[in-house]
Amino acid sequence: MIKQEDISKILEATEIVDVINAFVPLRKRGVNYLGHCPFHNEKTPSFTVSPSKGIFKCFGCGESGNAVNFIMKHEHYSYPEALKFLASKYGIEIQEDELTSEEKASQDVKDALFHVTEFAQKYFADILFNDNEGKKIGLSYFIERDLKEETIKRWGLGYCKDNWSEFTEYAKKNGYTDDILIKSGLTIAKEESHIQYDRFRARVMFPIYNIGGRPLGFTGRVLSSEKTKAKYVNSPESDIYSKSKVLFGLHLAKNEIVKQDLCYLVEGNMDAIMLSQNNVENVVATSGTALTIEQIRLIKRYTKNVTVLYDGDSAGIKAAFRAIDLFVENGLNVKIVLFPDGEDPDSYCRKLPQDDFKAYITDHAENFILFKTHLLLEDAKDDPFKRSALIKEIINTISLIPDNIEKAAYIQQCSSILNMKEEILNNHLTKLLREKYFKKSKEGIKETNTPSSEQLPPDDLFLPEDDGSSYISNQKAKKQIIEETFPDEAQERNIISILLNYGEKQTTQTTIGENGEKEDANYLIAAYLAGDIVADNLSFDNKLYQNIFDIYKNYIYEQGNLPDLSVFTNNQDLEIQKLSTTLLINNYSVSDLWEKKWKIVIPDPESDEKLNQFVKESLLSFKLNKLERKIISNEEKLKDEDDYDNQLIIMSEQKILKKLKQIISSELNRIVTK
Ligand code: UTP
Ligand code: MN
Repeated sequence: MIKQEDISKILEATEIVDVINAFVPLRKRGVNYLGHCPFHNEKTPSFTVSPSKGIFKCFGCGESGNAVNFIMKHEHYSYPEALKFLASKYGIEIQEDELTSEEKASQDVKDALFHVTEFAQKYFADILFNDNEGKKIGLSYFIERDLKEETIKRWGLGYCKDNWSEFTEYAKKNGYTDDILIKSGLTIAKEESHIQYDRFRARVMFPIYNIGGRPLGFTGRVLSSEKTKAKYVNSPESDIYSKSKVLFGLHLAKNEIVKQDLCYLVEGNMDAIMLSQNNVENVVATSGTALTIEQIRLIKRYTKNVTVLYDGDSAGIKAAFRAIDLFVENGLNVKIVLFPDGEDPDSYCRKLPQDDFKAYITDHAENFILFKTHLLLEDAKDDPFKRSALIKEIINTISLIPDNIEKAAYIQQCSSILNMKEEILNNHLTKLLREKYFKKSKEGIKETNTPSSEQLPPDDLFLPEDDGSSYISNQKAKKQIIEETFPDEAQERNIISILLNYGEKQTTQTTIGENGEKEDANYLIAAYLAGDIVADNLSFDNKLYQNIFDIYKNYIYEQGNLPDLSVFTNNQDLEIQKLSTTLLINNYSVSDLWEKKWKIVIPDPESDEKLNQFVKESLLSFKLNKLERKIISNEEKLKDEDDYDNQLIIMSEQKILKKLKQIISSELNRIVTK
């Protein structure tokens, strides 16, 4: 953990223009700077950096954030890594927080595991090249499989001898404890008999590395084709190794993946090694596990384009189908290449001349819809039942695509391959999405009240059906879902947006004085809003908004001033960073999704009168919504309440609330129609 005070120092020193300029040439344009967006291809620059707000935004692809976000995104760094990068750029010394003794112990174990694994990797590699048995059996095996010495070294391959405990003993001699050897999985201990022995024996060894290239564990392959032994033995899960979170070969492939904006995915370690030896370096392997979401996230750090190279047998196809859905669901573009039956990428790569193999994997890469449709169509032929199952299967995959325009494009493509009307496919899709959404929104309400973009119904959820009448009722249903799930979303967001954008401006508002006379008074907008909301004891349903509001409240009431915007745009909570930059950047952009969705119109800030009116209106409609919610919940309470006295209490409260509602409504009406 980097200390909070060091983080503040780093953030204070950071000049966003200076940071971004090192990667993207920027030119001054008015108060802002402009350049070509590094996150998407563009001819005319729309990447804008605001030095005063300390944020960037691309108006082409929508990417935005502060300097730390930029470094994270551009350099594929984690939050602490990005901070360290900036610290070294600005020569700020950082001290990592003292760890608690528990953290320290676990840190020590991790360190020791890294050391012993690295030690083992060197040991196995040394045996492969320098030991008689290693050379005769291990090295000759690799050479037989067409690996060059250079390749073997690059991947750090090795050999473990046909011996029960040679490694364990050697490691102990070098000071490694039983505990760490056992935790690393390199040594197996039988408690009953106090016997310890090596996990890996008489196998060629493939180290598994993290992104930074440190070995985390191993997979060892038998040399004989005996069926009695497992073909591969893997390191067990440990404090440093979790097989679902690594991709074999990523440490060597990552730069090439970025360069080519494409990642090849294979199943076997040998496949990855052989391809990279043959100049296809943007390749990683899942190493026998079914593809996981963590692995997809790893790939997504580098590219959104994946081509899956799997065996053409039925197991390979099944694995490919599963991988497709996972990729699609996570917004990646996925293509598939199948190899002729009996071939895997490694064997096929060795069979063809280098260029032919490259051409094969480029030419045979089918997008997932074509791939699925062709394969299933072959199977279904003219059988109407199978055909209908096929359509469902494909529509299901299309329904997973997060982007609506892409969805529509795939429906189009699919309609031409299957020779079916687009409308029919669209209807299927609509039905499926609706079912899914209803299921999801129910779960969503139960789990949390915080709306996230994922919970929002897609814009085209309700596509027009044939006669058009259902379209209208669907539109109503859609509106209702939004209102039921996020009743106060628009109003809450609006308040936060005003706090951030105009909080420090003055507003003139009319209040009722002590003697009932009306008087105009000046306030800071933030103080005016916070005062009113605190006085009425109102809270935000959306936790994120509440957190931001609380920061304002604390500054105003405890320090007597307003928080600097960087408190939000550089907040440790990444959600707060993201939301605040979005709200700050989007304050004038009418095209903002939220504005369309929630019909929020942000005024021209130059006009004081308009701003006064807007602030008042926003506050009143925020309050009105809260009141209505309270009235509804009281009514529910009343139904369940059997005690007569309690009923009376609730009823009298209702009366007051309704009166208040009336006052606020008419006040709102007066402002709106003014
Ligand atoms: P394969 O059997 O396709 O292995 O398993 P391969 O890489 O093509 O190996 P060769 O060509 O026969 O040498 C694919 C991957 O699944 C994992 C390994 O990581 C392997 O690379 N695997 C396979 C296991 O972990 N355990 C096994 O018993 C088999
Ligand atoms: Mn193979």
